[in-house]
Amino acid sequence: MTDIVLVAGAGGVGKTTLAAGIGVAAALEGRRTLVLTVDPARRLATALGLKKLSNIADPNPDLETLWAAMLDAGASWEAIARRHAPPEVAERLVASPFFDAIARQFPAGAAYAAAEEMSEQVENGAWDLVVVDTPPSSGGIDFLTAPAQMRALVGGRVLRMLTGGRLPGRKTFFDRATKPALRLMDGVLGGGLLQDVGDFLFDLRHTYDGIALRSKSIAAHMERAHMVLVTTNDPLPLIEADRFVVERPGDTRTPIIVFNRTLPEAWIGATTTVSNPRLVENLSRWAAEAAYQRDVRASWEERHNLPVVDVPWQADTPNDIGVLKTLADPIWVRLAIAPVP
Ligand SMILES: Nc1ncnc2c1ncn2[C@@H]1O[C@H](COP(=O)(O)OP(=O)(O)OP(=O)(O)O)[C@@H](O)[C@H]1O
Ligand SMILES: [Mg+2]
Repeated sequence: MTDIVLVAGAGGVGKTTLAAGIGVAAALEGRRTLVLTVDPARRLATALGLKKLSNIADPNPDLETLWAAMLDAGASWEAIARRHAPPEVAERLVASPFFDAIARQFPAGAAYAAAEEMSEQVENGAWDLVVVDTPPSSGGIDFLTAPAQMRALVGGRVLRMLTGGRLPGRKTFFDRATKPALRLMDGVLGGGLLQDVGDFLFDLRHTYDGIALRSKSIAAHMERAHMVLVTTNDPLPLIEADRFVVERPGDTRTPIIVFNRTLPEAWIGATTTVSNPRLVENLSRWAAEAAYQRDVRASWEERHNLPVVDVPWQADTPNDIGVLKTLADPIWVRLAIAPVP
């Protein structure tokens, strides 16, 4: 069975970099590995062997067991519409500007597209391991809750909100949409908008059964996935990491907590024989920062009773295969995924 690693965390903490590194470490052991990545920096994309934004995986020129794909939410959504709606409805959906907005702007939309893509890849039998770099969102929680949010959207919760009460039929919706507030909105935004939104939401409901069914298999994959939660020692990512650990009731798995861009503890109390006052000041500032980071990690470990993995701060942007492996190795070892038979 294909193993899954989900890499979550706040914006900019190093999810994409470490997802790539975990993929490299796995592939070097001979596992057929796919990294599903989101918006990698150009040089990292090149290191992974990625040529274009596409859900179709590219092989790595230097490591034949490593493949990568850059998630294209637009293409995923088109596939979702065609998979789950009757052909003529799918055509209308794909052509709708609202459809594009859901795919790209609605956080759960991009996350859901990534989750479907993950499931497609996990089920196609081609991989020993799929590493998923989750789309930027609220610390990765959106990725886990995306299927439920999508069901709420296509199941008509928005329609209910617009009309109040029970889910109306298409005709009743437009009769009720004469409510003053909605009429005002339609008047301000241009006549016909409400009609367009309504038509779109009704079309979207055709995908409900398919999405509801698919969500079940997505949830099953997520339940058995290994979780890696990346943070830095900075306050905002830490708040999101806290949320992630605390707000997953019923989920008893222990995510692997990674503190990325950590300064070496050896810098604490470092001294120099050089008498240049600027160098001395510089050294003492970095020593103070390293001590601050150490305390932040210690208090996290104590509060959550969870061990953490430190990934060192690199002076150069990590985007070569060798460096990526070195960075992600301690995470890979901690994941302890059984060898492929
Ligand atoms: N250990 C590290 N040392 C130095 N730089 C790092 C390290 N890890 C990541 N970086 C750099 O930090 C930046 C952000 O990393 P990355 O793009 O992987 O984060 P991300 O969590 O995927 O961001 P986003 O939420 O925007 O997708 C990049 O420039 C990356 O090269
Ligand atoms: Mg990223």
